[in-house]
Amino acid sequence: MERMLGRVLVIVPTYNERENLPMITERLRKAVPKAHLLIADDNSPDGTGAVADELAADDDHIHVLHRPGKQGLGAAYIAGFRWGLKEDFGVLVEMDADGSHQPEELPKLLEALADGADLVIGSRWVPGGKVVNWPASREFLSRGANVYTRMMLGVPVRDATAGFRAYRAATLEKIGLDDVESQGYCFQVDLTLRTVRDGLRVAEVPITFVDRTIGTSKMNRGIVAEALWRVTTWGVSGLPRRLRRRY
Ligand code: GDD
Ligand code: MN
Repeated sequence: MERMLGRVLVIVPTYNERENLPMITERLRKAVPKAHLLIADDNSPDGTGAVADELAADDDHIHVLHRPGKQGLGAAYIAGFRWGLKEDFGVLVEMDADGSHQPEELPKLLEALADGADLVIGSRWVPGGKVVNWPASREFLSRGANVYTRMMLGVPVRDATAGFRAYRAATLEKIGLDDVESQGYCFQVDLTLRTVRDGLRVAEVPITFVDRTIGTSKMNRGIVAEALWRVTTWGVSGLPRRLRRRY
């Protein structure tokens, strides 16, 4: 698989994940020992960046990108993707730091990529997918966001906001990152839409998403508001294209 896809880089964005980072690092290194890890930290006030540096000092498969301040999940991933493409990785993976995305499920995503997909999404909302310990309000938000996204954009994806995914480097090069404006979690929808519109293959594999036990979610009203207006804008501006049955 490695020969076909190239080296794997797992990008983990962090903001105040000091207590989660050693756990997720250890699990990833064990689950997929060949993969490299890039921690993209936004100068977390809790000192996550220093913890990341300590982990990197002991392991040549761990790298750290220090960013000046909190600029959003999307911006951190774009910076991570750029780093990974420059370093010639063939696969770029997105994964949260808090254990919600289980590193033990990553081989399943990589297999689907090797089978021919250009983007693999670890999906909560396909048969077999699950969410553990999420409050009902959060499940409602995620399901609602996905229904709205499918309605507005017509993308044939059940979990377009999912944050556990694997991209081929060629996919990111084709869709282009220079004009991505999404800063928050709608970045996930943004890149899904670009991938579909470019005629690339998206595969969803079921995952079990486990709510974090340590630290707090960075989801807030601003993130929801950005997602709502961007998805609405993309939907309206993409209407002529959709009417011609081309995403
Ligand atoms: N560098 C950086 N900068 N990291 C960030 C930022 C930021 O501004 N905001 C969040 N993160 C990191 C967190 O530290 C964590 O590792 C990851 O991004 C996800 O953030 P959470 O706050 O744990 O997200 P969530 O559990 O509420 O949301 C999950 O579901 C969303 C919607 O389905 C995630 O899987 C998201 O990726 C997903 O879009
Ligand atoms: Mn989380």
